[in-house]
Amino acid sequence: MQIFGVDIGGSGIKGAPVDLDKGDLAAERFKVLTPHPSTPDSVADGVRQVVEHFGWTGPVGLTFPGVITGGSTVRTAANVDKDWVDTDARALFSERLGGLPATVVNDADAAGVAEMRFGAGKDRMGTVILLTFGTGIGSALFIDGKLVPNTELGHLELHGHDAEKRASSKAKDDGELTWEHWAHRVQKYLAHVEMLFSPELIVIGGGVSRKAQKFLPFIEGIQAEIVPAQLQNNAGIVGAAMHAAES
Ligand code: BGC
Repeated sequence: MQIFGVDIGGSGIKGAPVDLDKGDLAAERFKVLTPHPSTPDSVADGVRQVVEHFGWTGPVGLTFPGVITGGSTVRTAANVDKDWVDTDARALFSERLGGLPATVVNDADAAGVAEMRFGAGKDRMGTVILLTFGTGIGSALFIDGKLVPNTELGHLELHGHDAEKRASSKAKDDGELTWEHWAHRVQKYLAHVEMLFSPELIVIGGGVSRKAQKFLPFIEGIQAEIVPAQLQNNAGIVGAAMHAAES
């Protein structure tokens, strides 16, 4: 079965039809840049462009980089326009897609669900945490394979700062940090997460997962096993489609 997945991020809106049996994209993904300002109206337009590119007419699963409650309502918007707060995202996307059925889930939760089914967390019990490093830091917490949604661990406080402002990959780029310097910050962040949850496994997702060998060797003193995500930057798209299939 195929469902269309869209991953809305701070820098890009990416989408593709997803083969749900394989947990993989069924066609090469298409991306548009996230508009600035990233208002509900302009982002919904970007989503429409991505879906129309494929002439898709079936159900669409979407991710959003903020807390989503009730499967629809946006509660936070750290890296997108604040007008999103309290928006009924599901209704907005469905309307903009000409009435196609739409579902919405937090981006890191979507990536986590995909990694647990098809990637680095497959068959892993106990406490597993996926952390995505991108414009912000997203988190997905699993207990014996079951998701605890909207954990928002990217906003833990690290040395008096919002952790994602110090340790996201955007913070690395903005501060022109070396891999080693950035890894040092990530290590402090992971130590804090470990102190709170003692996970058995930490999966590192987001664009940096492709470059894991550049920074994982610098991370020391964490007891949890740390591995890069296997679906890499497609996990959000796959997870969005999985969520739509299960809603
Ligand atoms: C948001 C999260 C999101 C993460 C990654 C954070 O700023 O609060 O909801 O998962 O960024 O996009």
